[in-house]
Amino acid sequence: MRSLIDIMDFSKEETHAVIDLALDIIAHRWKYAHACDGRKLATLFYEPSTRTRLSFTAAMMELGGNVIGFSDAKSSSVSKGETVADTVRVISAFADIIAMRHFKEGAPLVASQYASIPVINAGDGSHAHPTQTLTDLLTIRRELGRLDNFTIGFCGDLKFGRTVHSLIKALSRQTGINVVLIAPDELRLPAHLKKEICEENNIPTKEVTELEDVIADLDILYMTRVQEERFLDRDEFLRLRDRFILTPDKLENAKKDMVILHPLPRINEISRQVDKDPRAAYFRQVENGKFVRMALIMTLLGLNEKYLEEENKTEYLTSEYKCSNPVCICNSEDVDKQFYRSSEGLLRCAYCEGLVPEK
Ligand code: CP
Repeated sequence: MRSLIDIMDFSKEETHAVIDLALDIIAHRWKYAHACDGRKLATLFYEPSTRTRLSFTAAMMELGGNVIGFSDAKSSSVSKGETVADTVRVISAFADIIAMRHFKEGAPLVASQYASIPVINAGDGSHAHPTQTLTDLLTIRRELGRLDNFTIGFCGDLKFGRTVHSLIKALSRQTGINVVLIAPDELRLPAHLKKEICEENNIPTKEVTELEDVIADLDILYMTRVQEERFLDRDEFLRLRDRFILTPDKLENAKKDMVILHPLPRINEISRQVDKDPRAAYFRQVENGKFVRMALIMTLLGLNEKYLEEENKTEYLTSEYKCSNPVCICNSEDVDKQFYRSSEGLLRCAYCEGLVPEK
């Protein structure tokens, strides 16, 4: 039984397989509509969330499954003092898979050691957020067309930003990645992560304090929110919260095809005027989160292979339908008439992909 607690729990090949499955889900939504019929996801969220919890919920529903859980620990027996270990033992009797967000770092690992069903870390403290990393990787793949050979700048709160920690780890296994860390001294990437991820993997890494000094070099700009809820010193937060604000004028020197990512929520670190810029990919990134979580749920429930095998041997429908495209090969040569259902459920010719009217 597999869980996903840290992005490195999956090999590079397994990570790519989840992304490939997500891409197949995007292309053939109808094919997966019943993949999780009769299965239940439990979302155990001890900390606020909009995207992660609701995208997990939407993902399971789009796979035909159901969702139970809580979005506020106060409404569960956790408020009476129940431990994570006991909670997940109980939930194991009710569900097939758990997605857990917790303010305590390591809570999802504890859960995975006591649950008898797979556990997904949906974010634990400032530690890790592996499903955001899968979302980010899918977005990079779709926006840039590749997962290798680019320069990425991480800007903002690199100390507390768990999405940054997990994404840098995942990128350390790709080739040709250059990392630029853009943060004030107080919010630098923790030294142990820089050493263990960047230095030990020989990733060219530059640390700067000003975005303007490096923006022209970047293929991807990964903006982050200053994580108010993690600060012990409120005055320090107030001093740092407006340190980086991305505005249209700052983008003038950036590459015309640079991709702007942000795990969201944003506060003020990207001005609303930037949303209109075609390089702003952060709302597309959100939608990718649902698809990649569909792929992850299927993978951890062991349902992916069946679908990928089916994908490898595309089954065409043979029938009395007729392709109406005069320049399609099927109308000039003696070939089998073959059709398939598109992601919208429409009948299309296998050769020219033209729409075929149904009888
Ligand atoms: N990106 C992200 O984790 O958003 P939520 O906190 O809304 O889930």
